[in-house]
Amino acid sequence: MLFQVLCYIKVMKKQINTQTISKLEQSDFSLKLENDVLKLYKKSENSSISVDFTSQKALKRINEPGILKQDVAKAIGFNKTKELNILDATAGLGRDSFIFASITEKNVLMLERNPTSFALLENGLKRLQQVEDNQQLQEIAKKLSLENIDAAEFLKTTDQSFDVVYLDPMFSQEGQKKSAKVKKEMAFFHHTVGNDEDSDCLLDLAFAKASKRVVVKRHKNAPYLDNKKPTLEFKGKTNRFDVYII
Ligand SMILES: C[S@@+](CC[C@H](N)C(=O)[O-])C[C@H]1O[C@@H](n2cnc3c(N)ncnc32)[C@H](O)[C@@H]1O
Repeated sequence: MLFQVLCYIKVMKKQINTQTISKLEQSDFSLKLENDVLKLYKKSENSSISVDFTSQKALKRINEPGILKQDVAKAIGFNKTKELNILDATAGLGRDSFIFASITEKNVLMLERNPTSFALLENGLKRLQQVEDNQQLQEIAKKLSLENIDAAEFLKTTDQSFDVVYLDPMFSQEGQKKSAKVKKEMAFFHHTVGNDEDSDCLLDLAFAKASKRVVVKRHKNAPYLDNKKPTLEFKGKTNRFDVYII
């Protein structure tokens, strides 16, 4: 297993720190590169996750007729304009960013600090950028970019400004009462990421770099980030989007 991870590091020319390797090594999880697809396996369940923006499921998601009426789209402000430059400061597996890039006429910058999430996302993005037979996916690929950095560090140092800064850090109640597929992905986040205990500090930093709004995705019962009450809330069955208008 250690050999496979080290091979992957060599191929991708990226650093996965030794702490992460030994955590994966000792655990139920292992990373494998199969036919250019990086997969995180959970041995006990014989299941895996990977980032595939080209799957039928991903295509279906971005082509849903009511997409602009979904809470996430309204929270971002797509019902008002599609010309939004977005910073997804906690990109994870890029599922939300993929939706944003399918709607916006501008760009989406994804930040991810966890080396395993970053590696899976980078691999998915690379394969999206290689698509030759789907114009919609090619347009989305042009709008998406990714950096392996802590969002707090990025927000403190960047001179860029964004129309919208989006935050979806891990919260301890997440993963409860969800579908099997979501549970699998949440189990991955719980294992590799844990809870993002330091996420409160991101809110003020995000305010400083957002020109229109900051949007925070939370579990529906989670407290507000940094205990700050938002301007608007969109509450669904499991999640809540807290919108801070600048
Ligand atoms: C719940 S997941 C995000 C899921 C994502 N919205 C999606 O659609 O796949 C939270 C992710 O945010 C990342 N994260 C949390 N705090 C961060 C920070 N300060 N800087 C960069 N990434 C961060 C975690 O490593 C984790 O991968």
